[in-house]
Amino acid sequence: MIKIGSTHEKEGQIVMPNTKTSVPFVGTTEQAAKLQAVIQRHKGQRGASMPVLQEAQEIYGYLPEEVQVMVAEGLDIPLTEIYGIVSFYSQFILEPKGKTHIAVCMGTACYVRGAGDILDDIANHTCCKSGGITDDGSVSIEATRCIGACGLAPVLTINNDVYGKLDRGQIEPIIDEYLEKAKAEEAAEQE
Ligand code: FES
Repeated sequence: MIKIGSTHEKEGQIVMPNTKTSVPFVGTTEQAAKLQAVIQRHKGQRGASMPVLQEAQEIYGYLPEEVQVMVAEGLDIPLTEIYGIVSFYSQFILEPKGKTHIAVCMGTACYVRGAGDILDDIANHTCCKSGGITDDGSVSIEATRCIGACGLAPVLTINNDVYGKLDRGQIEPIIDEYLEKAKAEEAAEQE
């Protein structure tokens, strides 16, 4: 899980919090080359950091500290400034998704139909806190805004599948199916 404190002042300087995730960052040379090309395209332009960070997120899927450092060094911008941007705008994702990613809608319609309890149940069942990822990268959980399926409240998605009108007792067996399938796929890959 990511450990982010808040930036704080120390003798007039902004100090970066520890933003390393417990799931190791793995980037390929192709991804690094793509990011460098993006940086070169925008370097020197006013407001370059936003488009570069958006494209960096498309390349890597999220913006871990390692990618933030590459952007900061490439654009010659302080890392604290880059961190300030990625932590301020909700469009930026700071940690990877797990092999099984569960998103629980916490919009009003879902919330009044028990989405909060469902989120707690899922966190307890998977040993993964909301907004986090397990140390082995198998599960991540996210609380989302309304996804536009209010008639099906409470709604959650697992990977790309949408589930609605679920009772609390129905959810754990469904999640277990995904976890077992992911484990079987992993075992098959290792054979
Ligand atoms: S409030 Fe959950 S889908 Fe709209």
